[in-house]
Amino acid sequence: MKRRVSGTRERELRAFPIFAACSTEELADIDGQGTEITVSAGETLVREGHPGRQSFIVVSGEAVVVAGGREIARLGPGEFFGEMAVLTLRPRSATVRAATNMRLLVLEPRELGRVLRVTAVSRAMLSGVCDRLYKMEEQLV
Ligand code: CMP
Repeated sequence: MKRRVSGTRERELRAFPIFAACSTEELADIDGQGTEITVSAGETLVREGHPGRQSFIVVSGEAVVVAGGREIARLGPGEFFGEMAVLTLRPRSATVRAATNMRLLVLEPRELGRVLRVTAVSRAMLSGVCDRLYKMEEQLV
């Protein structure tokens, strides 16, 4: 049977840049993946050098990304983190901490895999990772 998604949920999901280009059918497949959690300001969500199996999409609030003791980025609604360790099976490349109270969508590896089967989402995530690389290169110059 085909999955369905309500109009309100479709609009909510489409507000996330990585889901923006998905069709209604693809959004219906994405809906239901992941678990929404709330975290308090100051909580460490992933720790540099540690193994990790979960990836996250920011629903609300702001996270700070710290690598080698230096703040390298801030992530807000619709942005994602924690995908690198899951995709590469390497340790976490940075520590990510909640800068404010946050709502997050947590994806287990299998759920990330399902979401990435949607071409529009893989493209958006890949493009987001490339943007991070370009930004880091700029910071090195
Ligand atoms: P991961 O290595 O699993 O855990 C730390 C996360 O921080 C990493 O995945 C990325 O999602 C995120 N991250 C690493 N480097 C950057 C960066 N330069 N800009 C934004 N986010 C980053």
